[in-house]
Amino acid sequence: MKILIVEDDTMLGELLQECLQRLGHERVRACLSGREAMIAFNEEAFDCAFVDLRLPDTDGLQLLTAIKDQDHGLPVVMMSGFPTMDYTIMAMRQGASDFLTKPFTLQDVALTLQRITKERQLLEQNISLRLEVQARKELEHVNQKLASTVSEQTRLFHISREIDEIRSSEDLYPRIVQLASSLQSVEKVVFYLAPRDSGSLVGMAGCGCLPEEPWFQKIAVNEDRVRQLLAGGETHVLVAPEEIRQIFENPPPTDQTLSCWPMRIRGEPFGLLVAFHRNCSRALSAEETRLFDFLIKKSSLAVENMALYESLISNFYGILRSLVNALEAKDLYTGKHSERVTLYAIRAAEILGCSSAQLESLRTAGYLHDIGKIGIQDRILTKPGPLTAEEYEIVKKHPVIGDSIVSELGLSPEERSIIRHHHERWDGAGYPDGLSSTQIPMLARIVSVADAFDAMTSKRAYRQAMSTDESVAELLKNRGRQFEPDIVDAFVDVVKKMGRDGDKSK
Ligand SMILES: [Fe+2]
Repeated sequence: MKILIVEDDTMLGELLQECLQRLGHERVRACLSGREAMIAFNEEAFDCAFVDLRLPDTDGLQLLTAIKDQDHGLPVVMMSGFPTMDYTIMAMRQGASDFLTKPFTLQDVALTLQRITKERQLLEQNISLRLEVQARKELEHVNQKLASTVSEQTRLFHISREIDEIRSSEDLYPRIVQLASSLQSVEKVVFYLAPRDSGSLVGMAGCGCLPEEPWFQKIAVNEDRVRQLLAGGETHVLVAPEEIRQIFENPPPTDQTLSCWPMRIRGEPFGLLVAFHRNCSRALSAEETRLFDFLIKKSSLAVENMALYESLISNFYGILRSLVNALEAKDLYTGKHSERVTLYAIRAAEILGCSSAQLESLRTAGYLHDIGKIGIQDRILTKPGPLTAEEYEIVKKHPVIGDSIVSELGLSPEERSIIRHHHERWDGAGYPDGLSSTQIPMLARIVSVADAFDAMTSKRAYRQAMSTDESVAELLKNRGRQFEPDIVDAFVDVVKKMGRDGDKSK
């Protein structure tokens, strides 16, 4: 140990120094006064101090206080020739570690040092325990923080995955409100669309409420307030219960706080997500705000991507439709063939009880069923007479060419099957794959009848158009051979309903 002795009696000081050195403590510095002692303290650090109770310039107890102020953990041994009980108690209260009565023996000094060493060990153990407890607390805190971060990241991942899986805009808004309602303790969530140049918002999807409720259908009372909500501040706007009447024409019966989250595409608001909080006075926590913010940004991006994709696809369909028009315009006899086939097919499909998705598929792909004819030479397509066997073989390639043209378009398998299989026959003698009966996809079977009927009732360069009755008779003749019987029956109904020349315009 490095020891400081503060003793004005030189002889005693030297005696103590000698004792300490004998006990193996070589590093000893002796001072004669309190002032000298404080200078020594400022110059270097000590492991222990022996202080005389009476010093020429100060009281030993005062020096003890000064030392403890500077280094609270330093063991200080007070020395006195006449230690009274009061003094001893006071010294102990002020943090003295031990008392050494003068004159002292080597053994007294040894015992004191033993006690101090033990005290130091205890103190060190205490400090190390305290550090351990503190480290444990810090670790616990870090663990809690980590668990909370992992949980938040998991929820973010879940939101991200759910939104990435959405394929159509019809599914998007219901999914957004569903995700929002699972994020925090909200009772209801509604997504309102903000039509351009309109001061009102229209409810599109909700969770925890009925679509018939008037407040769900529209937000409209104050256009300025609606604009403020769409501006949205940093991320969202909180609406207190007493303010609700300012934004709803027919306010919901609630004392809840609302949080309103504008959704934007390139800075332009297109909708508002409104969450009704369960607890009316509750502001959002930082984590909830982050999660909501992420959901809004991710959904807005998904809406933008979907709108872009749908517009691209719609443009592409537009181009294909133009190609079909151009193709049909070349032939005086086949003008608007695809349009009529689509119309007949949809009518028949309605009678046959097809779903709205199937009708939509017919609407999309019916028009494109002959798109593959783009790949057939004009001289064959517009030949003013019957085709040779060789030419007919070339024409028969158009379903496969059409299927390959639309293969990258994102059409559903059912839609593509209309293009590929509309020349298959119920008895298996058709092309390109020779499918028969129910192997032929349903919508292709319908288009096949509509296609044949329109071909029969259309004029050709080499023959007159057949009458409706003759064409119907022909369909019935091929019922169960070229065509599915039930579809022929439904089609005959369509023809009857549409009249002799129906909606046809040639
Ligand atoms: Fe065809």
